[in-house]
Amino acid sequence: MRRGTRRRGQERRFARVFQCRYQRARAERSNMRRKLVAGNWKMNGGLAANARLLDRLAGEWTAAEPRVLAVCVPFPYLAQAQAALTGTTVRWGAQDVSEHAAGAYTGEVAAGMLMEFGCRYAIVGHSERRQLHGESDALVGAKARAAQSAGLIPIACVGETLDERQRNATAAVVSRQLAAVIDALGDHVRDAVVAYEPVWAIGTGRTAAPAEAQAVHAALRTQLASAGAEEVSILYGGSVKAANAATLFAMPDIDGALVGGASLDAGEFLAIGRA
Ligand code: PGA
Repeated sequence: MRRGTRRRGQERRFARVFQCRYQRARAERSNMRRKLVAGNWKMNGGLAANARLLDRLAGEWTAAEPRVLAVCVPFPYLAQAQAALTGTTVRWGAQDVSEHAAGAYTGEVAAGMLMEFGCRYAIVGHSERRQLHGESDALVGAKARAAQSAGLIPIACVGETLDERQRNATAAVVSRQLAAVIDALGDHVRDAVVAYEPVWAIGTGRTAAPAEAQAVHAALRTQLASAGAEEVSILYGGSVKAANAATLFAMPDIDGALVGGASLDAGEFLAIGRA
């Protein structure tokens, strides 16, 4: 009898130690993930407005901030972003990249060119590229590979449309999109960033509820883990604002945000970075 009680006490102690270790390991892995807030200016901006926005970000974002702040600007403004942000802790990047390294591809921009302008990131597979420019999963994978081979960090976007969500196809769609990126990058997927952006939440003012987004992030994390890349940062995107960022960032698998509209307002974007 007494022996049984002692054994149960020991088992409980073991369980507690095991749980502590498990939680610590989980927290350590989560700390390894890059906490990133990236602005996607889309086709917005102009030299004068950009200068005001970039100067404020450069002046107010300090080295002590808990996250990495970055702006993904239209190609013609990369030189301006480079001039304004070099020597600061704000990073910059592009919104797309060619899958080719060079050649007769009128209108395209190669990853090597982006590197010459000091880019750290290139967004690939944004839903606007998939929907308006017919980009396939395979093309998005090839773009991610081209970006990475040149030394950029691809921010690979995945996300379902409203129709797909209503048909309960969210998990199938995002896992198919992510699989193409994993296939293209192989082991190097570890060094990429993934952004989950439900298409119905982009530019609509409708954000996924934090728990709803978390469920998709957790599924993406499981898929990344089976590719040996559990520590990849997974950003949420879709109507992120200063007012809703903190509740999204409180979710265990949301590592930051890809921000469209709100990244054009310095105060709002800085507040998201600090949420
Ligand atoms: P939004 O855009 O924040 O304006 O919804 C997000 C995105 O498209 O990356």
